[in-house]
Formats: sequence, structure tokens, C-alpha cells
Amino acid sequence: MSNQGRIVVYPGSFDPVTNGHLDIIHRARHIFDHVIVAVTQNSAKNSLFTVQERVDLLSAALKKEIRSRSVSVDTFSGLLVDYCRRRRAVAVARGLRALSDFEYEFQMALMNRHLAPKLETVFLMPDEKYTYLSSTLLKEIVRLGGDVGRFVPAALVPKIRQKLAGRG
Ligand code: PNS
Repeated sequence: MSNQGRIVVYPGSFDPVTNGHLDIIHRARHIFDHVIVAVTQNSAKNSLFTVQERVDLLSAALKKEIRSRSVSVDTFSGLLVDYCRRRRAVAVARGLRALSDFEYEFQMALMNRHLAPKLETVFLMPDEKYTYLSSTLLKEIVRLGGDVGRFVPAALVPKIRQKLAGRG
């Protein structure tokens, strides 16, 4: 075990981070000693924010946790299992919102288990008020002028608005 104790990697696109992601990070902190929030550099998705912008938004939202050293934010490219091995993580955390997430997550967890049999995937359920929340919907609501105050930390809203207005 590393000097950070039991490490979990929480990987994703985080384009951008939402309160649903933050909820999962807080739940993971209760189970593990250290949570690495790992932003993928090789997402097949068409991202709005650059990797650095996504890291900056996460770092702003997790200032306190980063200062207390229970969370860190990083980026990775290549296979997730290789990154987890390098960081000596014992598990991968993923959020499960609804049944619709299950098939994709199940497939990914089993493929990762095939690639790295000792690496566990743990699924955490966010508070039900975030069940229907996604980065995609968040961006659409901001773009159309809706109120996203409950879905993302207030300090991040102007940055997201600016980016969607093409001024970011
Ligand atoms: O937030 P997302 O987009 O659902 O996250 C997907 C992510 C980044 C976890 C997944 O695409 C991933 O692990 N990518 C790294 C490449 C990899 O290891 N692919 C094989 C997965 S079985």
C-alpha cells in the first residue's frame, strides 16, 4: 500500500464537473483514504472544455478536499487500468444513476477486470436529486439560459456560461 493509504481512481470526462460528480467523490472519500479524480485525455466524446479547463473547474470545486490531501485531480491517457497500476490504486469508482447507465458500466467494469483482475470497480449511487443530472444536460440548460444553481457549484457557473457563449 502506498503512503496515501487505500487509493481509488474516479475516472471520467468531467465536461464539466457537476454536483453529481462531487457527490460521488464525497461518498468515495468515506470509503477510501485518497480519491484521484482522473480526467481522460482520450475521450471519444466531443468535449466542450479542454482537459486543462476541466481540471481547473474540478480543482476549483474541490479546493478544500485537495488542501486536506484527501482528493487530487489528475489527467490520464491510455488504458485506465495502466494508469491505476501506476498510481497504485486498489479500485476504480464509478457513479450509477439509473438503469440506463448499467449496461455500459457493466461492460467497462468486466473488461477492466479482464485486463487487471485485482483492480475492483465500485459503483456508488449519487443522491437521488442528481439521478437525472448529466454534464450534457447541464450544458444544454446553461446554453438555453436556464437556472443550474442546484446542479453545479455557484462559483463555476460564470465560467461555464462564458465558455458556452464562446468567450471562454
Ligand atoms: O465520464 P465518461 O466519459 O463516462 O468516462 C469514461 C472513461 C474515461 C472512464 C472511459 O472511457 C475510460 O476508462 N477510458 C480510458 C481508456 C480505457 O481504458 N478504455 C477501456 C475501458 S474498458
